[in-house]
Amino acid sequence: MALECAAMYALARSLLFTLPPETSHDVGLAGLTALGRLPGRLRPLPGRRRQVMGLTFRNPVGLAAGLDKDARAVEGLARLGFGFVEVGTVTPLAQPGNPRPRLFRLPADRALINRMGFNNHGAEAMARRLDGIRARGRLVDTLLGVNVGKNKDTPLESAADDYLRCMDAVYTHADYLTLNLSSPNTPGLRTLQSEASLAPLLERIKGRQAALAARHGRYVPVALKIAPDLAAADVEIIAGAVARFELDAVIATNTTISRPGLAAAPHAGETGGLSGAPLAPLALQVVGLLREALGGRVPIIGVGGIMDGRGGAAMLEQGADLLQIYTGFIYRGPALIRELAEL
Ligand SMILES: Cc1cc2nc3c(=O)[nH]c(=O)nc-3n(C[C@H](O)[C@H](O)[C@H](O)COP(=O)(O)O)c2cc1C
Repeated sequence: MALECAAMYALARSLLFTLPPETSHDVGLAGLTALGRLPGRLRPLPGRRRQVMGLTFRNPVGLAAGLDKDARAVEGLARLGFGFVEVGTVTPLAQPGNPRPRLFRLPADRALINRMGFNNHGAEAMARRLDGIRARGRLVDTLLGVNVGKNKDTPLESAADDYLRCMDAVYTHADYLTLNLSSPNTPGLRTLQSEASLAPLLERIKGRQAALAARHGRYVPVALKIAPDLAAADVEIIAGAVARFELDAVIATNTTISRPGLAAAPHAGETGGLSGAPLAPLALQVVGLLREALGGRVPIIGVGGIMDGRGGAAMLEQGADLLQIYTGFIYRGPALIRELAEL
């Protein structure tokens, strides 16, 4: 069964990889949306349960943000067995993202480079889609994270307002929220991770979280997603702020702007964030630093270059409590979810 699944995906992938990357992304997402329309309730693959952020994860493997930016294929993704699915990044207002081409395959490196730039339909549209998913009630135990960001045109000084607007719009629909301060494709976004910017931002976020929890009678955890391109001292500063403001989790990491040891592939020089196999050592290093600095006080979701069970196990050994995948899922398909669910 697992072999058949891998062979079927290998065939689908060989067809999808003949198309330009963003076209095959759209075709793949349409396929997943159709898969979600088939009748039946949708459950995570069985695995070892974990309690993280006060939630029960039926297996440790989640879909990382950016694949289903507008929550169009949540039910299809749930059918594949993910323990959790993170949708977004969503911004307060819809925006088109960067001009195409903005997504590149590097098959020799088992990697991708993207500079999508938060193309999405906006937080209100996201809330309506999630409303529909909740109303259909077909998800059984698959947890839903919503990753939020700022619009490109919002000045950095007002970035916090964008995060708060997104929180207001999607709070009641999410099992957890993620603050994305680490996309390399929105100018200046990563500077929000700096010591001076982080504390005032987290203070406002925690204040709003408390207010929303009181209003709606439900506490929705908030995670912070960070970059792999941070010096050890910066990771320590972020860990300190996360612990002080009692954030619920850290997600490490986003894509890298570095280009570690790439084969001389045609697209290696494209601007954007690199993901997949070459990112793994950087992501593992950041997770290790976080683990050391946090000492288990705040859980860590490890993401970056997990391409097989061994990579997932290494991430857990390094201190991650849960895993997320994006590029590995593109290259390996649902077989990778199976390999990781059992860890
Ligand atoms: C095409 C593409 C789009 C992405 N978009 C987002 C995004 O909108 N928000 C986000 O937080 N991360 C985004 N990411 C980053 C992934 O969630 C993940 O952190 C990163 O790719 C590292 O994991 P991987 O090596 O398994 O792909 C994107 C990644 C890719 C490849």
